[in-house]
Amino acid sequence: MNSLEETARALVAEGKGILAADESDGTIKKRFDSIGVESTEENRRAYRELLFATSGAEDYISGVILFDETIRQSAEDGTPFPKLLESKGIIPGIKVDKGAKPLALSDGETITEGLDGLRARLDEYRELGARFAKWRATYSIDADKPSEYCVWTNAHALARYAALCQEAGLVPIVEPEVLQDGTHTLEQSSKATGRVLQAVYTELHDQRVDYRGTLLKPNMVLSGYDAADRAGAEEVAEATLECFNKHVPAAVPGIVFLSGGQSDEDATAHLNAMNALGPHPWELSFSYGRALQAPALKAWGGKPENVEAAQRAYYHRAKMNGAARTGMYAPEMETAGVA
Ligand code: 13P
Repeated sequence: MNSLEETARALVAEGKGILAADESDGTIKKRFDSIGVESTEENRRAYRELLFATSGAEDYISGVILFDETIRQSAEDGTPFPKLLESKGIIPGIKVDKGAKPLALSDGETITEGLDGLRARLDEYRELGARFAKWRATYSIDADKPSEYCVWTNAHALARYAALCQEAGLVPIVEPEVLQDGTHTLEQSSKATGRVLQAVYTELHDQRVDYRGTLLKPNMVLSGYDAADRAGAEEVAEATLECFNKHVPAAVPGIVFLSGGQSDEDATAHLNAMNALGPHPWELSFSYGRALQAPALKAWGGKPENVEAAQRAYYHRAKMNGAARTGMYAPEMETAGVA
């Protein structure tokens, strides 16, 4: 096994998953606005330190995705964040895309930017301690969306990013996110997700990316958040697995789902339901942002005296999702012994 595959497999080690703490400046401001905290560099640093320093989280968290600012920041005692994470056996990663921008001549679709100068940036991030990277493309579902144009341009960019990562010795997390906003059915979500995945694996193959040294970070197949009749956990699990069995090669070591606006408990229950139907060709894990952080963010509220309560909230969600990795989660665990 080469080192890329070793890293990819370590990121989906049994009972563990990834914390996405790579909110861009705009996104973290939105999160802080929701708790009435100003998004200053020090507040962002303090919040990320709270998460990274949580004792015991390493039992359930294999890696953390950082943002450009965050990978350069340090804990209060001067330890750079990548070193702090490594000291706990957590693998540091880095978001390297520059965001989804309007796709020229399209009807409101997006293309993710960030390829120019990426080779040099990857080298620097590796020096700073990153061992894996992330690039997110977004697609929406509508009568004529995602268009073939949007599907293939984003697949091409994702594969260019992934090839550059492997050349630089970083595991690429390939993140095609079909947004689940709207009123679409489970079938429409499955169809859009399948088309996107098929294009992504075609481009990855054509651009010589070794699937064994990658991870996939996709949406789950869900009914639209505003759909009248929304599918339950069992249906979501079955539809998602059917779609991924058709379109994701077995050589991919792991699928690490994003939470994408699901409630914390839904994100956990859906992952659990899929793992309960295993074994599968790939590990099924999580790379959650909101679904791991929301209760911690709320408990913190920007106040130093709330750090411990926030850490307990984060630890609890990490533990619940760790249980969902093996299909051993039950909703009763939410209230039983919040550690
Ligand atoms: P969410 O789990 O909040 O969707 O975030 C995951 C992520 O990293 C999106 O790029």
